[in-house]
Amino acid sequence: MTAGLLEVLVVSACGLPKLDFLTDKIDPYVLVNYKGQERKTRIARGQGGNPEWNQKFTFRAEYPGSGSDYNINLKIMDHDTFSSDDFIGETMIHVEDLLALGMDNGSYEMNSTKFRVIGSDQKYRGEIKVGVKFTKTSNDDDDEEEIGGWKDSYGDE
Ligand SMILES: *[C@@H]1O[C@H](CO)[C@@H](O)[C@H](O)[C@H]1NC(C)=O
Ligand SMILES: *[C@@H]1O[C@H](CO)[C@@H](O)[C@H](O)[C@H]1NC(C)=O
Repeated sequence: MTAGLLEVLVVSACGLPKLDFLTDKIDPYVLVNYKGQERKTRIARGQGGNPEWNQKFTFRAEYPGSGSDYNINLKIMDHDTFSSDDFIGETMIHVEDLLALGMDNGSYEMNSTKFRVIGSDQKYRGEIKVGVKFTKTSNDDDDEEEIGGWKDSYGDE
């Protein structure tokens, strides 16, 4: 089993619809979910349907894994001050190949790529731009500062 760090860069979105008929704006943010760990971007206020976040989140990852270890889920939400936040849409990024390639190479990066955002009605709700990088941190490498304590038992002498 190889351990590593999965970095998810949430860049921006475009073409997000407004859902609330009472206002003419949306205040979108993104919930990034990987293996049950959830992170949240800041709320992009006043940028309408084309928000920018440029925020990076790091998760522990392992390879090989199973089903849910290979999917990053991103949910785009609209923050509302006076009511509960609305779900705009979501996208799923499949990272099995990226983890496998990163394991072979030491690291592997998928540059920012656009993914379709799909609403709860299965309709197109714009696009989100995300980059993903996997960096191996355990086994025969030397740079193990992120996951310490394994070196003695797996020394490469
Ligand atoms: C392979 O690893 C090197 C060094 O870790 C990295 O610079 C390079 O971007 C990796 N290749 C790919 C395709 O990501
Ligand atoms: C990814 O982005 C880097 C820097 O912007 C660029 O040099 C590289 O060619 C890109 N790789 C791919 C596969 O598009």
